[in-house]
Amino acid sequence: MLAPVDWSKVTIAVEYGPGSGRFTFAMLERMRPGARLLAIDTGEEFVKKLRSAIADPRLIVVKGSAGDVARHLAERNLDEADLILSGLPFSTLKPGEAEAIMAETASALAPSGMFAAYQMRTVIRPLIERHLVLLRRNYEWWNIPPCHLYWATNPPR
Ligand SMILES: C[S@@+](CC[C@H](N)C(=O)[O-])C[C@H]1O[C@@H](n2cnc3c(N)ncnc32)[C@H](O)[C@@H]1O
Repeated sequence: MLAPVDWSKVTIAVEYGPGSGRFTFAMLERMRPGARLLAIDTGEEFVKKLRSAIADPRLIVVKGSAGDVARHLAERNLDEADLILSGLPFSTLKPGEAEAIMAETASALAPSGMFAAYQMRTVIRPLIERHLVLLRRNYEWWNIPPCHLYWATNPPR
């Protein structure tokens, strides 16, 4: 999931739905000193646990929705994101909510930024294609359960 990312170009990263932080740790390992990672989760318990589990000055953990990503970045004086990684369960989100999150994602992502998502189902694919340009996809058999991987960027402006 993280292999296609050029970490030398990532100054601002965002993670949607970090949960227990499996990807959060992996992203921080790859990020440069001075880069920032804004992790947004609606779950109060996940937010508390993540804040106490990772003491890294590059990490900002926010309790909120991915649908407000642009506001969360602006409130912290952070620019558009070079990378947005999503762990959100798009297949269980309300259709309007999923659409709004993808629209917000396109506006919060830098022109050459990358959106990356892993999903058990393919519901996200048409959403990506409506708001972004799909760069690459894959299917990871070795994950339990296996999952679909997507990488996308903004259409040319
Ligand atoms: C499948 S879990 C992610 C697992 C996590 N990435 C991991 O590797 O442990 C989905 C996460 O998305 C969060 N979530 C659901 N809807 C959200 C939303 N609208 N904005 C931000 N986080 C959300 C949930 O609280 C949960 O932590």
